[in-house]
Amino acid sequence: MRIVDLIQKKRDNIELTKEEIDYFLDEVQNNNMPDYQLSSFLMATYFNGMTDNEMIEFTKKMRDSGDIIKFEKLNKYLVDKHSTGGVGDKVTVVLAPIIAALGMGTTKLSGRGLGHTGGTIDKFESIKGFKFSGTKEEIQKIANACGIGLMGSSDKIVPLDKKIYALRDVTATVASIPLIASSIMSKKLAVQSDVIILDVKVGDGAFMKDINSASLLAQAMIKIGKGVDRKTYAILTNMDEPLGKSIGNAVEIIEGIEALKGNYEDDLFEVVSEIASLAILSKGDIKDKNEAKKMVKEVIDNKKALEKLKEFISNSGGDKDIVDNYELLPKAKNEYKVISKKAGYVEKIKAEEIGHAAMIIGAGRRTKEDELDYAAGIILSKKVSDYVKEGEVLATILYNNSESLEDSINNILDAYVISDKKVEKPKSILKIIE
Ligand code: URA
Repeated sequence: MRIVDLIQKKRDNIELTKEEIDYFLDEVQNNNMPDYQLSSFLMATYFNGMTDNEMIEFTKKMRDSGDIIKFEKLNKYLVDKHSTGGVGDKVTVVLAPIIAALGMGTTKLSGRGLGHTGGTIDKFESIKGFKFSGTKEEIQKIANACGIGLMGSSDKIVPLDKKIYALRDVTATVASIPLIASSIMSKKLAVQSDVIILDVKVGDGAFMKDINSASLLAQAMIKIGKGVDRKTYAILTNMDEPLGKSIGNAVEIIEGIEALKGNYEDDLFEVVSEIASLAILSKGDIKDKNEAKKMVKEVIDNKKALEKLKEFISNSGGDKDIVDNYELLPKAKNEYKVISKKAGYVEKIKAEEIGHAAMIIGAGRRTKEDELDYAAGIILSKKVSDYVKEGEVLATILYNNSESLEDSINNILDAYVISDKKVEKPKSILKIIE
């Protein structure tokens, strides 16, 4: 077999066999392929896509390029919820304890924030002493203890993806549905779970800006899941405004805790409740979604989910007392209230601009090497459809370093689009694909 022939087949839109895909990816993994050949293959894939079989075989081979994480001692129905990334997305902070309180388990890889999007690892690391699992043994130990196993991606899990992604990043081939789908799903499939629920964010602050491309990505990932007999569902959720009201790290942990105390923003609760009910229904004991939603509400009301969050924090080395005392979390020295210059209804809050405003005051990273200020963040006082008077507070910036404060204020003012006409509350759940 010659690599050039495989590139030619891809160029000419001829389906590659499993053996050809395996050979191709072995050559990448063994460092036998020059970047120019891999780049040509990626560009041909960008233009010609992949057939379903190609996509499934490509993903399986990627998955098998590193460690597979199993939970032999955790005798629970395991749920992997994956978000494609957004602004103010603290769903895992709320959902994982709910799933655990319902007697199931959460096992998944989590990410760090980059650019305008945040990451679950950073949010939890704002808790003093909290150490995210970095190895198979650590995630297994914590998951066995409390039913929540979250782990940062490591070089040992799907190492092929790291190599390929690095080249996609510099060859303008990231935005290819089969390449994105296989990249995400290979990492999902490397971790044992019974169901994968994909939260595909759609809108201004998301990777997928419109519902059509989000649906295509979701369908591709579902095909891969089904192709390897893993139950996979997708829920398309709105990212045309940030989720909930806080954007940052410690502030999102506080909002997550408040949600588990029953003080939730509607949009956050809708997304969490929909995903948790899908998980319950997929387990098969319950058939009625309303009943599933009641069960979700119950573990919030009886504080079982909050207790699970405490267990997860202490099992991860963190101080669980933060749940009852937010003073124990990093706190910004200063705050600035961003005031509305006009009256009207909030029509849009451009999530990407808000994510950018949070990033530049220290809550996010411009580059992977940037250090975070865990205390920095933004709290929104107004959400889409709310009425705002002239002079009223739109949002509050929490900051320690004032260097980018002016830019952050301007980003927030640009992000808020205010209209004279009444605006409907947007839907949080746009579509469910099973
Ligand atoms: N996230 C991933 O993990 N991979 C992609 O290709 C894009 C987003």
